[in-house]
Amino acid sequence: MAYPHSHPRETRILSEHFGEIEATTLDGWIERGGYKAVEKALGSMSREQVIEVVKESGLRGRGGAGFPTGLKWSFMPKDDTLPHYLVCNADESEPGTFKDREIMRWTPHQLLEGCIIGSYAIGASHCYIYIRGEFVDVIPVVNQAVVDAYSRGYLGRDILGSGYSLELTVHLGAGAYIAGEETGMLNSLEGRRAEPRIKPPFPAAKGAFGMPTTVNNVESLAVVPHIVTNGGDWYRQWGTEKSSGTKLFSCCGHLQKPGTYEIAMDFNLKDLLYDLCGGPPEGREFKAVIPGGSSVPILAADELDAECSYEGLEAAGSMVGSGGLIAMDDSTNMVHAVRRMVEFYAHESCGQCTQCREGTYWAAKILRRIERGGGREEDIPLLLDISANMAGKTICVLSDSAAAPIVSSIQKFQDDYMALIAKGQHAAVGT
Ligand SMILES: Cc1cc2nc3c(=O)[nH]c(=O)nc-3n(C[C@H](O)[C@H](O)[C@H](O)COP(=O)(O)O)c2cc1C
Repeated sequence: MAYPHSHPRETRILSEHFGEIEATTLDGWIERGGYKAVEKALGSMSREQVIEVVKESGLRGRGGAGFPTGLKWSFMPKDDTLPHYLVCNADESEPGTFKDREIMRWTPHQLLEGCIIGSYAIGASHCYIYIRGEFVDVIPVVNQAVVDAYSRGYLGRDILGSGYSLELTVHLGAGAYIAGEETGMLNSLEGRRAEPRIKPPFPAAKGAFGMPTTVNNVESLAVVPHIVTNGGDWYRQWGTEKSSGTKLFSCCGHLQKPGTYEIAMDFNLKDLLYDLCGGPPEGREFKAVIPGGSSVPILAADELDAECSYEGLEAAGSMVGSGGLIAMDDSTNMVHAVRRMVEFYAHESCGQCTQCREGTYWAAKILRRIERGGGREEDIPLLLDISANMAGKTICVLSDSAAAPIVSSIQKFQDDYMALIAKGQHAAVGT
């Protein structure tokens, strides 16, 4: 079965076997060359060599921050006797983002291979996959893969006779976006509220259960077996110097062919939107696009001719983020769209930091008032002032994420605000 909406212009490394139901099984995965990378890493490479090849590949974390994966692994202590942990971040709750879900749904063993190799590289004895609890259809697939991997000796004691042992636990989250923030996740894993921790100490020094820990996104880990098999230079043949390889973009909203697409990181955003995603619905034009999940700045229609690399989208005024692309056509009222996003952040704020707890609440309230016809011109500077007090002032960046769409929508779509404000004032005069 062809994966819905796959396109010849994609570069399908991670998604090569999406849509093939047999690839979800252990035998099907082995038939497709699966677990060869685990054999290679554990059988013929030292931990340092695994870290080195990941460094050479230039792979940057796909969870949102884009931190170099090999460098992150190298921060783990080398000569201590403490237990080390790898935590795979499969919380994926950012609005518009659904690419990790696809990796787990179609290729659970691809992720397990990444978890095993990553754990080996950082000297972890236990790996946790922290998975979003609402992924009710994906969780059994991952659980089955884990059982099968144990039964064939890819997990557990003395994996493939290499002398390396690893336990793996699938841990279900209870449905909180903030549990995707890495230190919130560690608290949740320990049975506490998912409240982010102040850093430092960073997880590599003091993470899960107070022990050295690395947290990596599903996509970051799932691509590691390919890098181990083929080498760092192979991965660098795609993308740019600063943004190597491929990236999954989950594309939703006003598109003719929404779906998850894997593209080289130097692919053009306009080509992704028009060629792969089929453009906006018939008779419509794009008004705005959020390229990297709801927490990155909004791009206007005239800003879409951009490279999908970290530096390319930054130059265009946004970010790669998680790769959750949300397209909005000219039927969209941006105040309405932003209000929906800010309400999400207000609901998901853990409440530790005043700027976030109060800022998201008040911004959502003002946006609702504007929508209902009670807006004032002073609301524009007021929203910008609230946003300025929310960004860069809190323990984690959920607050910054909520501010990003407010600020960018006011900068680029102020007409939508002014029209609603004027309409409200007009209605008030008429009554
Ligand atoms: C509010 C918030 C939610 C996040 N949610 C996720 C998530 O669902 N999945 C994810 O991988 N990273 C998420 N992150 C980023 C993680 O904190 C962390 O940077 C990432 O898991 C590291 O993995 P990587 O280096 O492989 O990207 C979130 C961050 C914040 C601030």
